[in-house]
Amino acid sequence: MPDVQISEEQVLEVLRAVQDPDLGRDIVSLGFVKEIRIDGSSVEFKIELTTPACPVKDDLKAQAEALVSALPGVTAVTVEMTAQVRGEIRTGPLIPTVKNVIAVASGKGGVGKSTVSCNLAVALAQTGAKVGLLDADIYGPSIPMMMGATEGPVADGSAIAPVLCHGVELMSIGFFLETDKAVVWRGPMIGKALTQFLGDVTWGDLDYLIVDLPPGTGDAPMSLAQLIPLTGVVVVMTPQDVAQQIANKSIYMFRMLEQSTNRAIPILGVVENMSGFICPTCGTETPLFRQGGGEKAAERLSVPFLGAIPLDPNICISGDIGKPAMLIAPESKQAEAFRRIAGNVAARVSTLNMRE
Ligand SMILES: Nc1ncnc2c1ncn2[C@@H]1O[C@H](COP(=O)(O)OP(=O)(O)OP(=O)(O)O)[C@@H](O)[C@H]1O
Ligand SMILES: [Mg+2]
Repeated sequence: MPDVQISEEQVLEVLRAVQDPDLGRDIVSLGFVKEIRIDGSSVEFKIELTTPACPVKDDLKAQAEALVSALPGVTAVTVEMTAQVRGEIRTGPLIPTVKNVIAVASGKGGVGKSTVSCNLAVALAQTGAKVGLLDADIYGPSIPMMMGATEGPVADGSAIAPVLCHGVELMSIGFFLETDKAVVWRGPMIGKALTQFLGDVTWGDLDYLIVDLPPGTGDAPMSLAQLIPLTGVVVVMTPQDVAQQIANKSIYMFRMLEQSTNRAIPILGVVENMSGFICPTCGTETPLFRQGGGEKAAERLSVPFLGAIPLDPNICISGDIGKPAMLIAPESKQAEAFRRIAGNVAARVSTLNMRE
């Protein structure tokens, strides 16, 4: 076979055909292609994405492999997929090691914020991202129980180390309270507690800090938005009309907070929880409420729809036994739904950060 010289330029040229659908540009102009090595007829390179949770990672890899393999003279192609999460340096002095803060909110209680927060955190961590989870529900902290954290955090002076659980760094007021005792706190105390949970906790170098908010439009979201710039908010709702109206209120509140804090607080999107019932015996899905409510609400509010999670007894059990559904049944529809939502959230965050 005649010797064909393969050049780096040729490799880059064909890779220009690979588009990142979320960022709307090709991977070469985005600067994702790195460390091209050509050894005779073998080509090796890295594609460095903006999140390890990229929902189209496998597809991008396959496209890149196919295009470079088709170059004349190429007999072997090795593509390594890596990721470097971009962050908002603007998370500020309170949490300098955190790149992105994602708040999980809803207008009303019991729609599944904490369930979504835990599973979102675990799903992101499973992709290789560094993730923290802050329980900002001062009145009804549920994260330690849902994550099955048995050991409390260790304090060194005023610095508190987060608890590592299922690959996620955790912090919650629940670690410091006696079980079954109600918390009676007024507004300013909530701000103070949140300041400590952000600033006094020795968070690691986190790509994403998920903040599970209490229900409603009260002091916690307000204090949080004032204390740190939020990368964005995930709004959880159930499919009924009334829940949609309440989700509207939540989104409205963040839009008001944008004005009062003079900072953008992007709504990353809407998650529809308890979307249909999956029968544990036969696996069929029955819509208990009208389906598609979340999608319609997202459209009406001009925010992205991030995905729907079925109503499944396993999710309820998982919360009670302290093992997120992602881990109890990784192959289940609900685990799949959480992975898809995590990918969509990460892609939205990347898009926002690339726009800066
Ligand atoms: N998709 C689901 N299928 C079955 N059970 C679910 C599902 N989502 C949440 N649950 C259960 O519903 C209950 C409420 O969920 P969760 O605590 O996550 O809601 P929340 O919005 O955080 O509530 P709160 O407003 O009280 O903080 C929990 O027992 C949880 O296990
Ligand atoms: Mg909760």
